[in-house]
Amino acid sequence: METILTGIRVNGELTLGNLLGALLPMVRLAEKYKSTHRVNVFVPDLHTIIADVDGDLQANTLKSLRYYAAAGLDLAHENIHIYRQSYVPAHSELCWILDTVATMGEMGRMTQFKEKSEGRDSANVGIFNYPVLMAADILLYSAKYVPVGEDQFQHIELARNLAERFNHKYGPTFELPATTAEQAAFMQGLAVEGKKAAGIRIRDLQNPEKKMSKSSQAENSKIMLSDTPASAAAKIMGATTDSVGKVQFDMFNQPGISNLLSILALTTGDTLESVSARYAGETNYGDFKRKVAEAVELFLADFQVKVAQTPDQEILAAFTRGESYANEIAKTKLLDAQRAVGLR
Ligand code: TRP
Repeated sequence: METILTGIRVNGELTLGNLLGALLPMVRLAEKYKSTHRVNVFVPDLHTIIADVDGDLQANTLKSLRYYAAAGLDLAHENIHIYRQSYVPAHSELCWILDTVATMGEMGRMTQFKEKSEGRDSANVGIFNYPVLMAADILLYSAKYVPVGEDQFQHIELARNLAERFNHKYGPTFELPATTAEQAAFMQGLAVEGKKAAGIRIRDLQNPEKKMSKSSQAENSKIMLSDTPASAAAKIMGATTDSVGKVQFDMFNQPGISNLLSILALTTGDTLESVSARYAGETNYGDFKRKVAEAVELFLADFQVKVAQTPDQEILAAFTRGESYANEIAKTKLLDAQRAVGLR
């Protein structure tokens, strides 16, 4: 069985954009592959602490898992493994070993490192070392597919390079994850075969040129998952549109309307094509927005009920089971690496 592995970042409150653009596609991916693949979904809590934590880290972890469960992640499935990185010590240990084959030069070229450190002398070493820990996350489980955003592709390339260099120096130990081109094709396959508007970036409601972000100052530019359904609907009604006067999907000329079409598709579980076809010829933006607002209101109300209904024990039980599985697999691979290097 091939392994699909992904890390889910937890950073306090999430937006509707995070849910529709990241959580739901991940859940659909798990649903699609759970009977034929191992699906590892882990919380990279050691990665989280490279920056100040927003709120309580453990509470955030539980809450985000509750969000995934409410979005439909099957916590109890035998092929879905949910674990916290810091509960599997092999990640940190393999990170150190891989540090000795990574070079300062290649690490210094990581785009995310350059952006996050901004050349500051006071930037912490964790920011620099982040991609090596991520390589360990992947290589310990011989994961083939690692669904992530494009901003993470460079880190996947690094994991491939480190695995190859290690194997060359110490003998065959790690399996290489798929190339980024293969990763992209794998994710593309999901969007097409699933016939859902998967992986779409939901835009800021006031300024649809930008991505919806929880850090936005303007409250009505974003919908938080904790907003009341009625206030979410009101924010949709107040969303920026345009003066074209046609409801059609055209991200370039009509980002506001296109964003509302995406939101409508994702909240109703319909395809983008079919919602676009349904509103083709509609010229009254007010009527269209009211439909989107109703869909968002219903969707959020239902989602919040599911969030409230997922008990902590269910999540903790999934972690306990997942961590016992993950420790088994990871310990074995770590031992292979320790032997190869000569530590054992
Ligand atoms: N770096 C990823 C992100 O920012 C999170 C992550 C950490 C991850 N380790 C991983 C993703 C391993 C996939 C595989 O989203």
